Amino acid sequence: MCGIVAYVGHREACPLVIKGLKRLEYRGYDSAGVALMNGQGLKIYKKKGKVVALEQELDGKEIHATIGMGHTRWATHGEPNDVNAHPHYSFHRKLAIIHNGIIENYAAIKQALLKKGHTFTSETDTEVLGQFIEDIWENNGGSLEEAVRLALQEGVGAYAIVIMSEADPTQLIAARKGSPLVIGVGDNEFFLASDATPIVEYTKDVIYLNDYEIAVIKNGELKVVTLDNTTTTPYVHKVELELEAIEKGGFDHFMLKEIFEQPRSIADSMRGRVQADAGTLQLGGLRDYLDKLAKSKRIVIVGCGTSWHAGLVAEYIFEELARIPVEVEYASEFRYRNPIIKEGDIVIAISQSGETADTLAAIELAKSKGATIFGVCNVVGSSIARATDAGAYTHAGPEIGVASTKAFTAQVTVLTLMALAAAKRKGTISDSLFRQLLAEMESIPAKVEKVLQAADKIKEIAYIFTYARNFIYLGRGLNFPVALEGALKLKEISYIHAEGYPAAEMKHGPIALIDEDMPVVVIATKDSSYEKVVSNIQEVKARKGRVIAITTEGDTHLPGMVDFTIEIPKVHEVLMPLVSVVPLQLLAYDIAVMRGRNVDQPRNLAKSVTVE
Ligand code: F6R
Repeated sequence: MCGIVAYVGHREACPLVIKGLKRLEYRGYDSAGVALMNGQGLKIYKKKGKVVALEQELDGKEIHATIGMGHTRWATHGEPNDVNAHPHYSFHRKLAIIHNGIIENYAAIKQALLKKGHTFTSETDTEVLGQFIEDIWENNGGSLEEAVRLALQEGVGAYAIVIMSEADPTQLIAARKGSPLVIGVGDNEFFLASDATPIVEYTKDVIYLNDYEIAVIKNGELKVVTLDNTTTTPYVHKVELELEAIEKGGFDHFMLKEIFEQPRSIADSMRGRVQADAGTLQLGGLRDYLDKLAKSKRIVIVGCGTSWHAGLVAEYIFEELARIPVEVEYASEFRYRNPIIKEGDIVIAISQSGETADTLAAIELAKSKGATIFGVCNVVGSSIARATDAGAYTHAGPEIGVASTKAFTAQVTVLTLMALAAAKRKGTISDSLFRQLLAEMESIPAKVEKVLQAADKIKEIAYIFTYARNFIYLGRGLNFPVALEGALKLKEISYIHAEGYPAAEMKHGPIALIDEDMPVVVIATKDSSYEKVVSNIQEVKARKGRVIAITTEGDTHLPGMVDFTIEIPKVHEVLMPLVSVVPLQLLAYDIAVMRGRNVDQPRNLAKSVTVE
């Protein structure tokens, strides 16, 4: 959601910023803009639509500059159009601002500025903040840095901002609270971005700005101060991200690349943690907290979307193996109730991006009630990862496609390891089952690889259902959250209405929808619910529904009963979601491509949802 890129140094800023904005396209946006400073002063160019539209706008313009900043906007205040796009000039055009987040008290600030005779060109809270900073700067007689600090002390809400001023072509001022901002430190040059992806091809040295910090880059030097004007010494991290990890590598879409990466990403989630031969399992980030987890009276899992589905899978696994009661909550609901958190409760927050505003707020609430917070995040150094007491990274690598795929399987992998570790410590799992599950986990990448070999067959099935208007997904037990995830994948990228249900629940309502036009995807693997699921399939067939069944290799019964089957290898029931979700990801992808959808950047969606 909203992307920020800025540069000051010796390179051409405009192409660098544009390239950076393209790297951030995955975050989701509806307009884009840049501000550049050269002999012609501080110039802003912006356009509704994709970054290519902005490039066309820049065609033929004098864009030579060694300082510049760019933004991709995901509309919150005011519709997506050229005027509301960022950057915004201040009232006297002395500065330009880009902003990710929401200034909640912007209306009150705007009223005060209107009384002073200010006028506004856009409907955005960002323009109000820019004018407010300039107003303080003009009237206080201090530096721009001081004006930014004073303005942000008044501003309520979340933000990552970058400011350029006409007065100093060497200066960029940036600040953060609640929205991510990374500073790349090069040789006499600095990069600013919402995440490290636009930076890694130039430098691996990065600083993650903390909440309430302001970075002032001036004359080739960086200074970081807090909102109350205390200078801090930033820690320079080495990012491990490689360029090829953020490029398509020959695939048509990032989503397809990420689906096919799963054998590797699942293995990476286990790397250095599982030693099946020795029957050992270590999760470094949990070491000091494992006792607490094992002894916990209750686990509350919070997350959104796909991460919430991973939480539902974890609920089954923790309860089955570690015998700890688990509740799974949408972070957005949890944060606005008065949840009961007791001593000894553990909250596990799951987030791919590590920046989801609702999940972050749920963590803060749980913390304030005394819970110990574990994080399962993919993005290293993200806000959620830093807000938790302990946790384990998923190590899936960057996920660029908006629809989450490899992050889900990595989350389930890590959560399964956490449940296994807790069960072992608590003594609720036998040594032989523990060893068996570790060995089975090590075999999962090869089994996922096998499912991927069925890609052509899945494409043929997708072709038949390309123009379906609705879909139902059914599963039981651990495959119920997989049904939810399959339905979510389909609806978000193909825009087909799809519902996931526990298979047995169908007869309590959704069965009314079944007729010859209703495709029903049923996860009917050979597990403890198999016979029951077969009965549910019969109920669908009796009403002429068209069934696509995900079956276990060697199942000779279902092919004669259903319309289509997609076979997956036999897997221990507890680990089934890691494999059974993969054909559903491919089915959703193929249908969306055949319908001509923008698979990697579906309409209205953002990769990192930093507003509530
Ligand atoms: C679905 C999807 C979203 C995210 C959700 C949470 O494909 O990507 O539903 O899962 O927005 O995001 P994170 O995991 O980054 O907190």
